[in-house]
Amino acid sequence: MRRKLIAGNWKMNKTPSEAVALIADLKDLVCNDEVDVCYCVPAIDIIPAVEAVKGTNVAIGAQNLYFEEKGAYTGEISAEMLCDAGVRYVIMGHSERRGYFGETDEDINKKLKKALEHGLIPIMCCGESLEQRQQGLTLSLIREQIRIGFDGVSAEQAKGVVIAYEPIWAIGTGVTATSEQAEEVCADIRKYIAELYDAETAEEIRILYGGSMNAGNAAELLAMADIDGGLIGGASLKKDFGSIVNYNK
Ligand code: PGA
Repeated sequence: MRRKLIAGNWKMNKTPSEAVALIADLKDLVCNDEVDVCYCVPAIDIIPAVEAVKGTNVAIGAQNLYFEEKGAYTGEISAEMLCDAGVRYVIMGHSERRGYFGETDEDINKKLKKALEHGLIPIMCCGESLEQRQQGLTLSLIREQIRIGFDGVSAEQAKGVVIAYEPIWAIGTGVTATSEQAEEVCADIRKYIAELYDAETAEEIRILYGGSMNAGNAAELLAMADIDGGLIGGASLKKDFGSIVNYNK
């Protein structure tokens, strides 16, 4: 049985002191032994956030990493640095990074392998634009993002990866995919993982939905057979996040 993961993506929000205050505000609201919870915080918030969640059920994630081990890459952060700071999860391939910072499927593949090499849990994002959906390209595009992203990743490693399906048209727009639309894609991702690897890997891998998930729609989305959690942006910065974590109560 796959354990649900409720991951907050704070994006470029909250200073270090604000991060500590938000973690304290949410502390009692995000307790739920039945799910995994993480906050993917801005890089500069990682160290105080790791300190602030000590003794709670919350893990800290990063929003990016660089795929080289170390060296002359001004401004970048390595997997080793994230591990040493106490990070458990790391997002890669978010549509904002693909769109604004030119992150390619090949970059994402290198980041995925580097994260796995260091024992970080990758949250690999994929998703289509509205135009691509209207053209009927959704499933083929996402299969292609996953095919390249997982190139050279073994079945054993793939089991520990988290895939986040995030339709670009639903991110930060208040327009959520219907539970049927989200399930259709998440189920196809699982089917594709079975084709790339095997049934056991497909059964174990966790697939999240992200895109305007909130306290009102989380329970319905999370009830779908192939949706194993959520990647939550806007609503992760509010008390609503507690309701999402406790969607099953
Ligand atoms: P949103 O963001 O919940 O604000 O739509 C989700 C994400 O980008 O991960």
